[in-house]
Amino acid sequence: MRYPIFCTVLAGISAALAGIAVAQEAQTEIQNGAQQQTPYQKMTPEQRAAATRTFLGLGAEPDRAAAARGEPLYIQSCAFCHGQQARGATGSSLITSDEVLHDDHGEHLVAFLRKGRPEKGMPAFATMPDDQLRDITEFVHLQVEAIANRGGYHVLNILVGVEEKGRQYVSARCIPCHAPGSFAHIASRFRSPEQLQKGWISPPQSTGPEDRMRAITAAVEMPEGGTIAGRVTEVSDFRITLVDRDGQTHRIDRRPGVKVRMNDPIAAHQQMIMTLANDDMHNVTAYLETLK
Ligand code: HEC
Ligand code: HEC
Repeated sequence: MRYPIFCTVLAGISAALAGIAVAQEAQTEIQNGAQQQTPYQKMTPEQRAAATRTFLGLGAEPDRAAAARGEPLYIQSCAFCHGQQARGATGSSLITSDEVLHDDHGEHLVAFLRKGRPEKGMPAFATMPDDQLRDITEFVHLQVEAIANRGGYHVLNILVGVEEKGRQYVSARCIPCHAPGSFAHIASRFRSPEQLQKGWISPPQSTGPEDRMRAITAAVEMPEGGTIAGRVTEVSDFRITLVDRDGQTHRIDRRPGVKVRMNDPIAAHQQMIMTLANDDMHNVTAYLETLK
C-alpha cells in the first residue's frame, strides 16, 4: 500500500460522509417525507467525488488540461522544495496548505506565488507569466484532488477530443520536430490514456547515456581558450559537470570568464506545450490513443 495514512484518512472521510448522508436523509424524512436525498452508498462515483469535495471544502474541480500544462513547470520550479507530488520535501506539503485549500483556479494563489514569502524561504515568482502560474496552481489542486478524491479521480474520461483533428494537429505541429512514424504504437507504451497524456506532455528528462537524444548537453568556453562539450550531469550557479564524448568527466567551476551554453532538447518541446490550447491537447491525446 503506497499511502497508508491517506487510506486511513480516506476511510474516515468515507465513513463520516456516509454518516452525514444518512443523518441528512433521516432529517429530510422527518421534515418532509416527500423529499429524499441520495445516501452516500447509492451515489455514482461522480456524485461521491462532488460530495467529498464539498465535505472537505476543496472548492472547484481542477482543470485537468491546465494541470497537465502546469506539471512540467511545477516539477521545474517547485518540486525541489515541495516534492514531486506536492506532498512536501525540504518545504512544506501543499496538500494540507490553507493557501491552497482556500483557492479556486488560482484566484488567490497566483498573487501569492508572485510575491512568495522570501523572508521564510518561499521565493517570489515575479516574472513568471500569469497563465503559467495558474497552470501550476491547477496542478497543485489536482494533487489534492488525487489524494482526497481518488474515487472520482479515475472515472472522468479524458478521451474527449476528436481523433481526426488530433491527427491533423500532429502532422502540422509535431512532425516538424518528430520524424513521421515516430509515434507508432505510442499508446501501447502507457497503461492508460491519462498516462499517455502525461507522457507526451512532459516526457521524462533523462541524463542516462542510453538516452542521448534527450540528454541536456552544454558547451563550456574556458577563459584561457578552448571549449569543453558534453552531457550535463550536474549544474548549479557555481559548478557544471560534463561527460564528454570519450566518457571523461569534467568538473568546471563557473568562475568569471567561463561561458556556458546549455542545450536542453526537452526545452523546445516544453515551449510548444506552453502554447497548447485545451482542445488541441484533448484532440492530440484522442489521436495518439488510437496508435496502439
Ligand atoms: C526554495 C524552496 C521553495 C521553492 C522553490 C518553492 N517553495 Fe513554496 N514554500 C517554501 C517554503 C519554505 C514555504 C513556507 C513559508 C512559510 O513558512 O510561510 C513555502 C510556502 C508555500 C505555500 C504556502 C503554504 C502555506 O499554506 O503556508 C505555497 C502555496 C507554496 N509554497 C507553493 C509553491 C509553488 C507552487 C512553488 C513553485 C512555483 C513553490 N512554492 C516553490 C519553499 C519553496
Ligand atoms: C520544437 C520541437 C518539438 C515539437 C514542436 C514537439 N516536440 Fe515532442 N519532443 C521534442 C524533443 C527534442 C523531444 C526529446 C527528444 C526525444 O525524446 O525524442 C521530444 C519528446 C517527445 C516525446 C517523448 C519521446 C518518446 O518517444 O517518448 C513525445 C511523446 C513527444 N515529444 C510528443 C510530441 C507531440 C505529440 C507533439 C505535438 C503536439 C510534439 N512532441 C511536438 C521536440 C518537439
